Amino acid sequence: MTDIRSELDAIERSSGERLAAASSVEAVDTLRHELLGRSGALTGLLRQLGSVPAEERPAIGQRANEVRRRLEAAIQSRLDDLSSTDLEARLADETIDMSAPGRPLPVGHLHPVQTTMRDLREIFHAYGFELFEGPEIETEEYNFELLNIPPDHPSRDLWDTMYVAEPGSVAAGAPRPAEDGTILRTHTSPVQIRAMRALEPPIRVLMPGRCFRYEAVDASHASEFFQVEGLVVDRDTSLADLKGTLEEVARALYGRDVRTRFRPGYYPFTEPSVAFDIGCLVCGGSGCPACKRSGWMTILGAGMVHPSVLRAGGYDPDEFQGYAFGMGPDRMTMLRHGIGDIRLFFSADLRLVTQFTEGR
Ligand code: PHE
Repeated sequence: MTDIRSELDAIERSSGERLAAASSVEAVDTLRHELLGRSGALTGLLRQLGSVPAEERPAIGQRANEVRRRLEAAIQSRLDDLSSTDLEARLADETIDMSAPGRPLPVGHLHPVQTTMRDLREIFHAYGFELFEGPEIETEEYNFELLNIPPDHPSRDLWDTMYVAEPGSVAAGAPRPAEDGTILRTHTSPVQIRAMRALEPPIRVLMPGRCFRYEAVDASHASEFFQVEGLVVDRDTSLADLKGTLEEVARALYGRDVRTRFRPGYYPFTEPSVAFDIGCLVCGGSGCPACKRSGWMTILGAGMVHPSVLRAGGYDPDEFQGYAFGMGPDRMTMLRHGIGDIRLFFSADLRLVTQFTEGR
């Protein structure tokens, strides 16, 4: 008996030194096996418990459990020590080469349509135009009525409109347009009214933004696209000012040799109205799908601001005149790069956008 007791004492006593001598996690593991493993010292002693007289067994069993708990705790704390010194050693080993070149960070760039819009902003900035923005979610009043397009006017067909549904009507299974006339704007022209109401003449503003139409989507029509609207309101403004400005802008954008032409157009909010074309840069004028085989591409609609629109903006048409234009930067970008299909711009296909990296 006393044998077992003294052996337990011996194991406990010697384990302290042996643990301190174990200088790696592996060495501590080996020691754990030797002491506590299935064929370890402590287990071997406990096997002999059967030969101990019954009355002494509980006391020795208790003592054996105590030794086991102490050994386990000591082993664990030794492992904790080792892993922190391990970390210190590894950190000390680590060297940093201060002369190594940095890792390049991937830098994005503008979408090609955004690059065109940025260029437009810069060109018009040089002509004294400042930026003015309006909401994408508009009302029929601003999108149509205040632009001289009454309800039921046939020209509304030019702007196939996406209506915001009356709250609850979709859930009820009977969608109908919101009663307050909330729509997605079909053009940036409503911003003309907002700018006239917010600013004092002389007004020279550029109004870029996203527009939405319920379109039959094809190579030159998307249901989501951009426009850049321009508006000038001043005294003695004439169609000559409009022509001169647009021709200069076309040269700045497409080069001095670009061919341009004005055609009669129709918009309810300008009078007279014109369409402004440039020679198709995709095909050079011989006709291709991008220019609908005409050799020309319309990049904007324009005209002198209609007297009713000036009045809606708060001006007396006898005192103030103005011109307005609406450009299609998507189409302008197609022209610039020879891109034949507008749908590519919204396709999220990185093979398209990564070709045009100048917009950094
Ligand atoms: N808002 C017109 C359109 O979407 C373009 C335009 C703007 C025409 C300004 C004339 C003046 O087609």
